[in-house]
Amino acid sequence: MSQMEKLAPPRHIAIIMDGNGRWAKKRGLPRTAGHKAGAESFRRIANYCRTLGVEYLTVYAFSTENWRRSEEEVGGIMKLLAAYLKEALRDMYKNNVCFRFFGDLSRLSPELQKLCRQAEEESAGLSEVQVNFCLNYGGRDEIVRAARAYAADVAAGKYSAEDLSEGLFACYLDSAGVPDPELVIRPSGELRTSNFLPWQTVYSEFVYMNVLWPDFGPEDLDSAIEEYHRRNRRFGGV
Ligand code: IPE
Ligand code: IPE
Ligand code: MG
Repeated sequence: MSQMEKLAPPRHIAIIMDGNGRWAKKRGLPRTAGHKAGAESFRRIANYCRTLGVEYLTVYAFSTENWRRSEEEVGGIMKLLAAYLKEALRDMYKNNVCFRFFGDLSRLSPELQKLCRQAEEESAGLSEVQVNFCLNYGGRDEIVRAARAYAADVAAGKYSAEDLSEGLFACYLDSAGVPDPELVIRPSGELRTSNFLPWQTVYSEFVYMNVLWPDFGPEDLDSAIEEYHRRNRRFGGV
């Protein structure tokens, strides 16, 4: 499809960046090499989303379950994240990307936490595309943290239990203020959500693709958007 014929992208695209390990294995490389290639793929896709005019890009980078991996692999991923954030801080004004972080950052190293805070603060006014990085993110964990925060506000007398509505609860989630993603893409061939955005994706369209994340290119995003446009979204109506 030519640039002219391209369908308008959804406002908010979420991606489960999966398949780095298998990509590396296929090449006889260590898993960390797969994560490095995955980080490159992320840069490419974030840039492409900006040129398409996508407003929000939410990416699953590290789950609450990913701590089960070897110390070496987890350390390698954290190093890549720190390097990416340093680079993003340096190129902030050139890239015009606004960063947010979803997940419980308290378990990350103090250095990484600081980089996340800095990236969030320094990019706050930038607007071409908002990237929501899911780091030590788990959907159930997000809901539990939100419930705790609401309970604390009830205990402090700010609200009563009866005040809670879906809209008010959403304000306590990491995604507060961000519209729900219309489209969720999972490369790598796995057909599951792995604890990604359970609250926000109840009416999202899911596109599962048989490509490993490091090989995922702009043409794959185009075909996911085309598939999204073929879906008939009814939201419970007829
Ligand atoms: C996704 O790739 C990256 C993270 C989960 C951090 P994987 O590392 O899960 O790759 P596969 O699924 O083993 O191929
Ligand atoms: C989901 O992928 C998490 C990220 C991509 C960060 P996993 O590879 O961890 O998910 P499972 O283990 O296949 O469900
Ligand atoms: Mg995986």
